[in-house]
Amino acid sequence: MKKIVDNIFYVGVNDRNKNLFEGLWPLPNGVSYNSYLIDDEQVCLIDTVEIDFFAQFLENVREVIGDRPIDYVVINHMEPDHSGSLGLLKKFYPDVKFVGNKKTFGMMSGFYGLNADTLEVKNGDHLNLGKTSLQFVFTPMVHWPETMMTLDETHRTLFAGDAFGCFGALNGGIIDEQINCDWAWLEMIRYYSNIVGKYGVPVQNALKKLSGVELDYICSTHGPVWKQYISKVVDLYDRMSRYETEAGLVICYGTMYGNTERMAEEIARAASEAGVKNIVMYNVSKTHHSYILRDIFRYKGLIVGAPTYNTGLYHEMEVLLSEIAGKDIKNHLIGWFGSHGWASKACCKIEEWNETRLHFEVVGEPVDMKQAMSADVKAQCAALGKAMAEALKIEN
Ligand code: FEO
Repeated sequence: MKKIVDNIFYVGVNDRNKNLFEGLWPLPNGVSYNSYLIDDEQVCLIDTVEIDFFAQFLENVREVIGDRPIDYVVINHMEPDHSGSLGLLKKFYPDVKFVGNKKTFGMMSGFYGLNADTLEVKNGDHLNLGKTSLQFVFTPMVHWPETMMTLDETHRTLFAGDAFGCFGALNGGIIDEQINCDWAWLEMIRYYSNIVGKYGVPVQNALKKLSGVELDYICSTHGPVWKQYISKVVDLYDRMSRYETEAGLVICYGTMYGNTERMAEEIARAASEAGVKNIVMYNVSKTHHSYILRDIFRYKGLIVGAPTYNTGLYHEMEVLLSEIAGKDIKNHLIGWFGSHGWASKACCKIEEWNETRLHFEVVGEPVDMKQAMSADVKAQCAALGKAMAEALKIEN
């Protein structure tokens, strides 16, 4: 039995089987689906877990309340990694009431055909469980339109839905002070940038609604329960949702035979010589774009390069640029380079991406290389790396 505090228990599960979260995002260390049970005069579950884990989930619940019924299940978020067990839960607890908002119930009906026994709440409404008082705070688009958070005012505990979550299963410890959390920080940024990153403004709105609320615990639907690191995770979310970056440079490239990679190496060397210490480099065909996006969220500078392919842009670079554009990332600097054997297209395609979708501030002169490295191309690559380094110095 995993007690968080007083009458709040962790009843979530770990998923170390899935390779890709949402079918998209690698899970090298798994993920947790967190659910919490408040054992009061009225028993209240906060969110559920993905349906594949229902048996373990039910066992966790019964370990806390035995044969007693569940009175309420609060649905902070309807994405099926948290709502997937609602239908089965209703079969085991036929008298349970679903607590959510109007949008929640539209989705619940559509996903699971559940329409009855609902308690619709409005932003700011309260629900009393006995000694525990809950307040509902609507936080639309963090991460779906129906998303809300639930504040346990009695225990100064925020059930935050996806917010403040991270990839990575919980290996024994549940609360941050029970865990060496070193692994969590980059995985929180990767989670944020890929799952919630498009919704910076809604995250800022949610943070404003919660500002001034004193919290002892933040219980997310993924990753550790935050206690000692509350100010750190709130600050991290604040900075990421304002697209605040550190001084640093991401260089990512596609390469077929190593020629374009040589350009990347020259650019990186020049940027380093000009004083940039944080430089990360990725071959887009090797590293999953979720990791590259994570670092693009961290660092202000971005230089991308790729070969021309089929008289267009190298496919893996198209995928990455599409992912960057889809996240509506702001406040970045960009430079680019390209190569071709016989038809020069890569550079103008990257330029088109930036002009039409990314809208990052352009730094330096793009470098277009025909076939292989020459002294002239080498000098142009060095100039691009240096220009980015200078721009990063001015910005920071
Ligand atoms: Fe963890 Fe948006 O679901």
